[in-house]
Amino acid sequence: MTKQEISIGERVFRIYLDESQIQARIRELAAEIQEQYTNTELVIVSVLNGAFMFTADLLRKLDIPCNLNFIRVSSYSGTETTGQVKTVMGIGDNIAGKHVLLIEDIVDTGITLKELLRQLEAEQPASIRVCALLVKPEKHQVPVHVHFPGFVIPDAFVVGYGLDLDGQGRNLPHIYQLKS
Ligand code: XMP
Ligand code: MG
Repeated sequence: MTKQEISIGERVFRIYLDESQIQARIRELAAEIQEQYTNTELVIVSVLNGAFMFTADLLRKLDIPCNLNFIRVSSYSGTETTGQVKTVMGIGDNIAGKHVLLIEDIVDTGITLKELLRQLEAEQPASIRVCALLVKPEKHQVPVHVHFPGFVIPDAFVVGYGLDLDGQGRNLPHIYQLKS
């Protein structure tokens, strides 16, 4: 049975998107992505740690040839962005001339995405598109475009399905929203 409420430290979260809603949307996203990449070899760049679970589920539904790379960045402390994006681990493969799909868990202020795109574009890929499971348009501080958005959500902190509060909650199969 799906837990309706969970606690992490002092904070209480309520169920927001359950596993079946997430998986149904991932099937749709995979179909949309596949349509855009017929006859092209795709390089997936997944952003650790948050996108690990989404990436694993999405890739299992993608029936096209693709390479998988990970990049690791860090900007959050608790529930607030520090505004400083640190690249903790860069991608190993050469992406010059390749078609890149960047996979993010969530686009909030957009600062992380903008910095990632700047870094990846410097390597001159043939194209870059972005897929993010969650998008919070109300919180964007910089203009960013997500080509394949999973769910557009309001401004409330969420955890689960890869997303964390100070490292906790990533293992949850559902997404929970902070109770105000
Ligand atoms: P920005 O603000 O740069 O944030 O778009 C992108 C990264 O911040 C994390 N983030 C969250 N993590 N619940 C989380 O668990 C949230 O509501 C949330 N908002 C932003 C996330 O790692 C994302 O890649
Ligand atoms: Mg995170």
